[in-house]
Amino acid sequence: MSTATLSSPPKVKIGPTKLLINGEWQAAASGKTFPTINPATEEVIAQVAEGDAADVESAVKAARRAFDEGPWSKMSATERGKLLLKLADLIEANRKELAELETLDNGKPLGESIKADLPLTIMCYRYFAGWADKIHGKTIPINGPYFCYTRHEPVGVAGQIIPWNFPMLMQAWKLGPALAAGCTVVLKPAEQTPLSALRIGELIMEAGFPPGVVNIVPGYGPTAGAAIARHMDVDKVAFTGSTEVGHIIMKHAAETNLKRVTLELGGKSPNVVFADTDLDAAVEGAYFGLFFNQGQCCVAGSRLFVEEKIHDQFVEKMVAKAKARKVGDPFARETMQGPQVDRDQFEKVMGYIDSGKKEGAKLLAGGGRVGQKGFFVEPTVFGDVKDDMKIAREEIFGPVMSIIRFKDLDEVVQRANRTMYGLAAAVWTKDITKAHAIANRVRAGTVWVNCYDVFDAAAPFGGFKQSGVGRELGEYGLQAYTEVKTVVVKL
Ligand code: NAI
Ligand code: MG
Repeated sequence: MSTATLSSPPKVKIGPTKLLINGEWQAAASGKTFPTINPATEEVIAQVAEGDAADVESAVKAARRAFDEGPWSKMSATERGKLLLKLADLIEANRKELAELETLDNGKPLGESIKADLPLTIMCYRYFAGWADKIHGKTIPINGPYFCYTRHEPVGVAGQIIPWNFPMLMQAWKLGPALAAGCTVVLKPAEQTPLSALRIGELIMEAGFPPGVVNIVPGYGPTAGAAIARHMDVDKVAFTGSTEVGHIIMKHAAETNLKRVTLELGGKSPNVVFADTDLDAAVEGAYFGLFFNQGQCCVAGSRLFVEEKIHDQFVEKMVAKAKARKVGDPFARETMQGPQVDRDQFEKVMGYIDSGKKEGAKLLAGGGRVGQKGFFVEPTVFGDVKDDMKIAREEIFGPVMSIIRFKDLDEVVQRANRTMYGLAAAVWTKDITKAHAIANRVRAGTVWVNCYDVFDAAAPFGGFKQSGVGRELGEYGLQAYTEVKTVVVKL
C-alpha cells in the first residue's frame, strides 16, 4: 500500500441544497439542516435541508396530484421517453461537474466517477427512455364470448430510498424505470451523499419534467425515510441499503397500506477460483471484485474461495497487488482507493479487521488506518479464513478481503450457499462444466463466469434470500413499477 500525494482539489460546483417539492426548491418545514461531509478531509461541504414527515407529506401530495390529475398521467408515453432522453443528454453535458460532485461527497476516485458512475447512470436513463413507449399488455383467449386483454399501468406514487455507495447510479436505477412506467416519485437520497441527487433534480427540472413528477427529500432514514415507507398514499416503496433496514421497510409497508415493496439489500458473495483458471485473470478479477469502490459494493466478492492446489500462489499475487494499491486523495490521478464514506463505516470496517485478527485469521496485508484525517483504510487481505469467522459471515462493506481454501466442487457449492444472503457469485475456471455447476447451483441473483461486477441497464439485478425482494434493471425492473390490469369485455 502506498499513499497518493495530495493534489489541490478542483473548485467543485455544489448545486442545490434544498428540498425539491412540486418543482420548487424549498427549506425543510422545520427549518432544520444537516451537514454533508467530505470523507477525505472530514470537512463540512454544505448544509442541506433536512426533510422529515411534514416535507414527505407535501412531496407525496405533489406526486399524487401529478399522478392522479396529470399532467404526468395524461402525457403520452413517447413524451415521457423524450424527457428521459433529454435528462440523459443533460447529465452527459454536465458529466465532468457531476463526477466531481460525486467524488467530493462520496470519496470515490474521480477517475472511477468518470469511467463508471457517469456512463452507467447515463446508460440507465437512456435504456429506460427506450422502454417508455414499449410497455403494453396482451390479448388473452379466455373461454366464452369475451374479449380479454391486459394493461400494464403505472403502480402510482413510488417512494424511493437510496444508499450512498453509488448515489447517482442508484438514483438512476430508481428513477429510470419509475418514470418510464409513468409513476411519479418521492426520492430520499442517503444522508451521507445528497448532493448529486439534488443537482440531478435541477437537471430534471431543466429537462422539462412537470412539477411534482420527481420530488427529492434529503434527510435521515428513521425520520424522512420511515415517513415514506409508512405513507398511506405511497403505492410502492423501492429501497436499497442494509438488510436490517430492509426488514423495517417491509414492516412499515405491512403495517400501513401493503404498498408494493422491492428491496436491494446486502450480500456476502462467494467468488470461487478453481485451479484450472487463468490465474492472473482470476487474481485481477477477484481484486477488482472486492476492492472496487473502497469495498463498498453490495456484490463485493467478500468470500473468496480458492482451490487448495493454487492457494499459495494466488495469495502471493493478491497480497502484492493489495500492497501496491494507492490510497489517498480521490481527486489525485494516481489514486486507486479513496476514503470510506463516513466515520460510521470507517469504524465498522476497522471493527471487522479487529475481529478477523482476534478470531485467528492471518493478516497478510494492510489492517490499519491511512493517515490521521479522512476515513482511509488500508487495503486488507486475510488468509486462512474459516467459514464461521465473523469476517466470513457478515457484510463488511470495506476493503477487507477474506481468502478461504476449498478442495472440490460439491464442497464449495455447499459452503457458498451457507449464508442468509444471495446477491451475487462468481466462478473462475476454464472448465465449462464447473462454470455451469456454480452458475446453476449457487443461490444468488447474479453469477459472473470469468468476470466480476459486469453491470448493464438491460440485465436484471437483485437478490435471492435476504439479499432482497424483486429485481431492478432490465424488463423485470420495469415490471416492478407496473400493475397488471385485466379487462374482460362481453362480446
Ligand atoms: P442503511 O440501510 O441504514 O441506509 C440506506 C438508506 O436507507 C439511506 O437512505 C438511509 O437514510 C435509509 N434508512 C435508514 N434507516 C431507515 C429507516 N428506518 N426507514 C427508512 N429508511 C431508512 O445503511 P447504512 O446505515 O448507510 O449502512 C449500513 C450498512 O448497510 C453498510 O455497512 C452496508 O453493509 C449496508 N449497505 C448496503 C448497501 C447496498 O448497496 N446493498 C448500500 C448501503 C449500505
Ligand atoms: Mg443506517
